[in-house]
Amino acid sequence: MSASPSAIESVLIENRVFPPPEGLVKTARISGMAGYEALCAEADKDFEGFWARLARENLQWTRPFTKTLDESNAPFYQWFADGELNASANCLDRHMGTPVESKTAIIFEADDGAVTKVTYKELLARVAQFANALKAQGVKKGDRVLIYMPMTIEGVVAMQACARIGATHSVVFGGFSAKAVQERIIDAGAVAVITANYQLRGGKELPLKAIVDEGIAMGGCESIKSVLVYERTPTAWNRVDGRDKSFAEALAGQSTECVPVAVEAEHPLFILYTSGSTGKPKGVQHSTGGYLLWAKLTMDWTFDLRPDDVFWCTADIGWVTGHTYIAYGPLAAGGTQVMFEGIPTYPNAGRFWQMIERHKVSIFYTAPTAIRSLIKAADSDEKVHPKNWDLSSLRILGSVGEPINPEAWMWYYKNVGGERCPIVDTWWQTENGGHLITPLPGATPLVPGSCTLPLPGIAAAIVDETGKDVPNGSGGMLVIKRPWPSMIRTIWNDPERFKKSYFPEEMGGKIYLAGDGAVRDAKTAYFRVTGRIDDVLNVSGHRMGTMEIESALVAKSDLVAEAAVVGRPDDLTGEAICAFVVLKRARPTGEEAKQIAAELRNWVAKEIGPIAKPKDIRFGDNLPKTRSGKIMRRLLRSLAKGEAITQDTSTLENPAILDQLAQNN
Ligand code: WTA
Repeated sequence: MSASPSAIESVLIENRVFPPPEGLVKTARISGMAGYEALCAEADKDFEGFWARLARENLQWTRPFTKTLDESNAPFYQWFADGELNASANCLDRHMGTPVESKTAIIFEADDGAVTKVTYKELLARVAQFANALKAQGVKKGDRVLIYMPMTIEGVVAMQACARIGATHSVVFGGFSAKAVQERIIDAGAVAVITANYQLRGGKELPLKAIVDEGIAMGGCESIKSVLVYERTPTAWNRVDGRDKSFAEALAGQSTECVPVAVEAEHPLFILYTSGSTGKPKGVQHSTGGYLLWAKLTMDWTFDLRPDDVFWCTADIGWVTGHTYIAYGPLAAGGTQVMFEGIPTYPNAGRFWQMIERHKVSIFYTAPTAIRSLIKAADSDEKVHPKNWDLSSLRILGSVGEPINPEAWMWYYKNVGGERCPIVDTWWQTENGGHLITPLPGATPLVPGSCTLPLPGIAAAIVDETGKDVPNGSGGMLVIKRPWPSMIRTIWNDPERFKKSYFPEEMGGKIYLAGDGAVRDAKTAYFRVTGRIDDVLNVSGHRMGTMEIESALVAKSDLVAEAAVVGRPDDLTGEAICAFVVLKRARPTGEEAKQIAAELRNWVAKEIGPIAKPKDIRFGDNLPKTRSGKIMRRLLRSLAKGEAITQDTSTLENPAILDQLAQNN
């Protein structure tokens, strides 16, 4: 259950195949490989007609579109551009007057286990009322609103309310720092912040509002006119008069009806910041029409959502998975979903299994890193093994965020899915809006560790540096050769960076470069994604740029002269962050090194967030550089892994440094 050499070998020789359950093949929307191939053929034959049909069938348009895809300004593709719709109306209003109206939309389980449920009708009233409260604050179509909320129904209400009035939300994960909040407010030019006084996780009360205050106080946030505060706990919070209001104050007297604002299909529904290989996080901008189509469609295709399903996606709304598979997809599809405030290990590592039993969850979607940590917990304590709970309600399992190693896959399949439930290993990215390469539960034979085949209409391929296809069986770069409806539209405020990051000139400027390495199986043509090929790390499924962490380290300018950050494989978190640091004083050793390393970790937590804390920090008099001054990251990666250096070091200016950096603190 790790990325140990044996695990890597087993993925290379993986030959176990798990066909889809017969019953599911009969009932699934996409039934058998014949069903899948029929859709692929339809997309091949008439690409635009295919998407136009699906967009008409799956969304309600207040103004129908006449043009499906506009490629005239590629790579700034436009989809359904002359159509108009509202995302919130497509998630809520559309169900009124249907049986879904009185169905439970969200089953919320709080950190302490308390359960609250809302029906679609109730959720609509809450969203409409909150939308009116936003309007009363002066928020209008086209404005940006920063959301810094705990995992609560109110978080979804805030997102949906923005969508209802055509405001573009930018959700910031509750684990990010004040500095991250400040940077995002400035970049997005946000006019309002929606936050909570505190969040509750693992029995602890953690501040949110105070971090917003700290971020705004760092300066440059004059665009913020109001801060709305959800009082999650009775604990007092600091109020800035004239700017801050509690939810209760903002909602008082507001009607529970609010006509949704129709927006153009290309209107930015949200901006979500994510890490790239260079510079600061980039604001990935998504559209309304194409994005929502994808959210709805993949609920039907990948999860084969049925009216009586109970869907549970364990992601946080601060990540794209929580956007598409909590805030929009399940609602657009009229499903019932579980939403969880807490953490998988509180009060013990049986929490997920207990919740599946309690709420009769039928579709469960989580990350490999969570599975790996729960395997470890179950191995050391029988009492939290999934066998202690009745998981018979499950019918489909999902995985997302990082490669799942075959050992973890098999454990998940056997111990959670009872060898009955297909696992959909969904490959996609913040920039993609939703699943692109994934098995279909009633069609695709599964191979552990493989995300199998692209969804119909998705032109996924593996190419070399020039954009030429590589043969199956050889590794290369994962690209998507044709646009798809839910693709990133641009990087907010930085169209040049958008072009450069995703549509390299060397490949013709129109092919989407994912930044992942992948290989297709020689026999089945199944995809296996091996990980990032750029300087982006994936730690517990969280994306982080090595440059971002380096910048944070050198920002401690009284102490740090230079820093280089690389990833190394980690059994539990997939990758771990390893930082090589040169101080402005003599290289510390022993206790002093430990102390300074702790200080630097806390510093990074303050600059970015606790998830960016380096696991290893190593101090050197210098870093391994070529004579022209370039840091040799290749060598640092080997050192981080604890490997002996076998590479050629003759171009190195200071080979002696390697021994020093091989030592861990
Ligand atoms: C990785 C998360 C292998 C990949 C939805 C990608 C995966 C990055 C998988 C995007 C998967 C995501 N198998 N790798 N099933 N899913 N990844 O933007 O490296 O947070 O580029 O989106 O996660 O991370 P992001």
